[in-house]
Formats: sequence, structure tokens, C-alpha cells
Amino acid sequence: MIDLEAYLGKQIPTSATYWENGIEILTIPENLTDVSFLDIGGGASDITANLLLRGANAFSIDPAYKSRSDLKGRILGQLKPENYTKENIARIRQGLETFMQSIKTNPNRYRAEFATHTSFQDNFFDYIYSINLVTAYLDIDLDTLNRAVDESIRISKPGATIQYFPFLEPEPSGSLVINTQRIKNDQSLLDRLSKDTRIKDFSVREIEFWGRKTLTLIKSDY
Ligand SMILES: C[S@@+](CC[C@H](N)C(=O)[O-])C[C@H]1O[C@@H](n2cnc3c(N)ncnc32)[C@H](O)[C@@H]1O
Repeated sequence: MIDLEAYLGKQIPTSATYWENGIEILTIPENLTDVSFLDIGGGASDITANLLLRGANAFSIDPAYKSRSDLKGRILGQLKPENYTKENIARIRQGLETFMQSIKTNPNRYRAEFATHTSFQDNFFDYIYSINLVTAYLDIDLDTLNRAVDESIRISKPGATIQYFPFLEPEPSGSLVINTQRIKNDQSLLDRLSKDTRIKDFSVREIEFWGRKTLTLIKSDY
């Protein structure tokens, strides 16, 4: 049988969302000291690096961390003037340097792992998020989506926040067939969550600056 998640892992592009954009999307608390975070499919984003610099207990997982120099080359290869402004290219390069420095200094924080089966213990994280992975690509397959969400619930603390971005949104680069299936699977996830006693609350809201929706779950307190 094919391992669909590993197969998808090789097809899904990487990217490098930088800190200023990350904080527009995520609901990050003001005091970060000892707050534990997990970025699922972190790619070359410098969000984990910034969280660590601000005193958080932050981790990121991505199968691409197996080959770090490849990851850098893949991001640099995307920075074409036809796709980005000069300012954006400069900011992404700067974020990439912050990420490369952080992964070198804190290798244990960046783990080559998959969303559906991580090495973290039960009830570990205060905050889990995924930008442009779980509900942007893994939702192509309902079983993979459900298993990724189940794993987030397992490793988050009672009362923790889990956030996925974007949600119920077509990917501009995806085909109509794929996007239709993804949106259907996202809807199934909502139906399932409404009956799941491990979840205290969940909401879908639009993020002002981005005009795209995000899904936030609050894990039950028990
Ligand atoms: C589009 S990028 C997003 C990166 C980052 N979150 C950002 O916003 O810039 C998706 C990332 O997910 C990683 N990925 C693919 N499959 C994965 C899986 N099953 N579990 C964790 N990460 C995965 C890819 O290697 C890639 O770096």
C-alpha cells in the first residue's frame, strides 16, 4: 500500500512565511515565556525562530528538515522578480537567514516528522498551528486530514488552541477537482468536530488583512 502522506510530502511545495505575516494570521499571546508552540509543516518560515528568541518553547516539524540545504535552495529558487516585489524578496531572504541560523543553533527544535504521527508526548503543547499545510494540502485526502487533526488534539494540552490556515479556501495553484474535494473534506471535518467531545469550541473566521478564513479549535479542559 502506498504511504499517501509521504507521497504528498514529496509533491507539496515549501515556503517561508515570515514573522510579520505570521502574527497577522495567528493569535499569539503577548507573554511567550515558557508557552509551548508547534508549527506543523513549518518549511523555512522564521516564525519558530522568532518565538524561540522571545522565550517560547517552540518546535517545528516538516519532512523537508531531513535536507536543510535543499530547503534553502528551494526557497531561493522561488524568489523571481516576476513573482515578488524587491522589498518582499529582501524580507523573505532575511527571514530565510533567521531560519537557517535558528535551525543550526537549535537543531532539536526542527524535526523531520509528519503531521499524522509525531514524536511528542500527549498533552504537550499550549498552541499548535499550521500555515499552508494541513487545510491547504493534506485535506486532499479526508483520512489524512482527520489523522493530522487527531494527532494535533493528542499532543495539545487541555484548553490548548489549535489553528489551521487557510480554511475552506481554494488554493490558487490547485486544480478545480482538487479544490472541490478539499473544500468537501474541510466541511466533513467541521461536521465531525461538532460531535467531538475532545473539542470544547471551534470557530471559522476571516482574517482581515488576508481576506482568507482560518479554523481555530479549543481543546476540552479534561
Ligand atoms: C506550503 S509549505 C508551508 C511552509 C510554512 N508553513 C509557510 O507558511 O511558509 C508546506 C510545507 O509542509 C511540508 N509538509 C508536507 N507534508 C507534510 C506532512 N505530512 N507533515 C508535515 N509537514 C509536511 C512541506 O515539506 C512544506 O515545507
